[in-house]
Amino acid sequence: MINRRTFLAKTGATAVVTAAGAKLPVWARTIGTARTAGAESGVGGEGVLLLGADYYPDQTPEALWQEDARMMAEAGLTNVRVAEFAWSLMEPVEGKFDFAWLHKSVLILNKNGIAVILGTPSAAPPPWLTAKYPEVLMVNDQGMTVSPGGRRFTCPSNKTYRKLSLGIATEMARAFANEAGVIGWQIDNEFTLQKWGRCYCKACRAGFQEWLRAKYGSLDSVNTKWGTAFWSQVYTEWRQIPVPLPSNGDPNPGLALDYDRYQSFANASSSNEQAAMLRKTCPKHFVTTNNVGAPLDTIDLRELYKELDFVCGDNYPGFVQLYFGDAPPEVLGSVVSLGHDSMRGVKDGKPFLIMEEQAGKAGQAYFTAQPHKGQLRLWTYQAIAHGAMGVNYFRWDSAKFGAEEYWHGLLNHDRSKSIGFEEITGTVKELKTLGREMLHSAYAAQTALVFDHDSDWALGIQPGNSKLTYTSHMISWYASISAAHSGVDIISVESDLSRYKAVFAPLQYVVAEKQATNIRKYVENGGIFVTSFRLGVKDESSRIVEGPLPGLLRDVMGVTLKDYVPVYTEKVGVQFSKVLAGADGSCPLWADLLQPASASTEVLATYTGAYAGDAAITMNSFGKGKAVYIGADLDPQSLGRVLVTLLAVNGVRSEFGVPRGVELTRRKSANQEWFFLLNHTGTEQQVKLPGRFKNALSGTTLQDVLLLGAYDAQVIQRA
Ligand code: GAL
Ligand code: ZN
Repeated sequence: MINRRTFLAKTGATAVVTAAGAKLPVWARTIGTARTAGAESGVGGEGVLLLGADYYPDQTPEALWQEDARMMAEAGLTNVRVAEFAWSLMEPVEGKFDFAWLHKSVLILNKNGIAVILGTPSAAPPPWLTAKYPEVLMVNDQGMTVSPGGRRFTCPSNKTYRKLSLGIATEMARAFANEAGVIGWQIDNEFTLQKWGRCYCKACRAGFQEWLRAKYGSLDSVNTKWGTAFWSQVYTEWRQIPVPLPSNGDPNPGLALDYDRYQSFANASSSNEQAAMLRKTCPKHFVTTNNVGAPLDTIDLRELYKELDFVCGDNYPGFVQLYFGDAPPEVLGSVVSLGHDSMRGVKDGKPFLIMEEQAGKAGQAYFTAQPHKGQLRLWTYQAIAHGAMGVNYFRWDSAKFGAEEYWHGLLNHDRSKSIGFEEITGTVKELKTLGREMLHSAYAAQTALVFDHDSDWALGIQPGNSKLTYTSHMISWYASISAAHSGVDIISVESDLSRYKAVFAPLQYVVAEKQATNIRKYVENGGIFVTSFRLGVKDESSRIVEGPLPGLLRDVMGVTLKDYVPVYTEKVGVQFSKVLAGADGSCPLWADLLQPASASTEVLATYTGAYAGDAAITMNSFGKGKAVYIGADLDPQSLGRVLVTLLAVNGVRSEFGVPRGVELTRRKSANQEWFFLLNHTGTEQQVKLPGRFKNALSGTTLQDVLLLGAYDAQVIQRA
């Protein structure tokens, strides 16, 4: 008997469809499991593909709702997401609810064949709420109470706020549980630990103490694990434990790491409260939330999505351009792809949804660049190429007021069609022709990159060298690995590693016993494990490990650290040899000085300059596999060459001839395989094909070469 869990446990829905006659829960039938594609199949009924827009009837005169819905239907959109910021309209006065306007809007949408995802509004409470209950306001990392007037300014632990959030969500759920056209729920909007995400208020302090009590059981254990003998911090009552607010000295590293974990837990548990209610009240509907991908958002998404049906990503490539300025197109492209792969990784490869996709130039005080012709289509295909099953464009119209009035949607401020309108609606039509089997197929990956929250958080607390960040390493390692065009999954260090030919885990600063065991088993059985400096310095309580570095993985890596060195002004170079022989490299931020500790350890690079002669990269044969330690912080060019070489010598390389700036990914169903080629450059590019292919979009046959126009995307299959 298939239930919600077993349905979700499958990769993609095709397996479920073909399990003929299987009776699925109704909600599961709303997406991806039924016969026909598109809105034609009936709204909220079976088989809605999710190709829609984020829509704000709450910010649009009612007189325009009909026209909006008609235009959406004409444009081929299948669904909208609504109401995630409309609390003050739905509960204008405490305890008085008004859903009449939303019912009316849903009815109009439904009549036009547009299905509806409803957002619960807890990301932005109304002014009456914060005026009456000021204790719900977030306290920031400087101890200042955050002011209302923006959004996400409330505390994730505060019981009053959680009760009020659950209250409005419950009223909504009751009002819309059986409403025609409603298919699912987005809880809140972007629970996050990014930038402003952490709260340090009294409620969080009490919540933290309670969480610690459940985790450690006794104060003795907390005192030992954290090492509170230092600076006279031995706790004798739970309520003495502080949160890491300014205290004229850095916090205890173990306490600070646990606080990051607690904040993640607090957000996830407040989401779980709403999820449990929605499951009960709306059993026909799917339940999810939305986030940007790691490494930009460092909430533990696995924890957040545990009780939810599928993962949703919000994708704004324009921001990547703003942050990374003049970076080459392949770097910009790969940061976006890393976001997608992170979202797909949260539920171990199951298709995810883009809940918000950039639809034009975007911005608040500053705008992103105008997307080039072709880029809106390219970004959509990029999401699909990396495992998305659908896309919602942000937003349908451009708001005429409010902080995001320059966030350009499919309609301009004057409601004319935006410059990207036809490009977007053309893409939606193309995706419909590619159909459900493709949209629900699995992404194929031969390699994996570990994204580890503990290492990310712990290095954020103690980066060692102020310029060293986990995020920038994720980005450069991801870009290097994806240049092999063999697919990359973003995984946890506790995932099943045996699926991959090679696993990369840079800056694995925190290593728990069971994680070391997982890695050891993987290498023993023939895996290629590639890691970098700062390996295994800390245990999971953020205590320095016993014995020489790299701690628990010393036998697997076959090295002992002579020393570790933050690099500032000294010149440190790297000379490569043997299988890595090639141009010399530099070592800008960090050098772990390695000493081979086993007869099976080969030295593949040595330092020059300040640490001349010490080993910089080693490879150990361990069991049937290999463990590579990259002790030097390599310059990007050397890193790219080293990682691609390590893959190539171990048989991981693409048969396609893919030029720089072009991406290749592969999706696979039981019977078919699709290759996505994405040109992130503004010039025409040629891809060399290994044989005969057909273009899945145009049907034309291709022999040996595929031409891609500027910012073009094509999908091909073997002929
Ligand atoms: C997203 C958010 C939306 C909107 C958008 C543009 O991160 O979920 O509500 O703010 O960014 O800023
Ligand atoms: Zn708080």
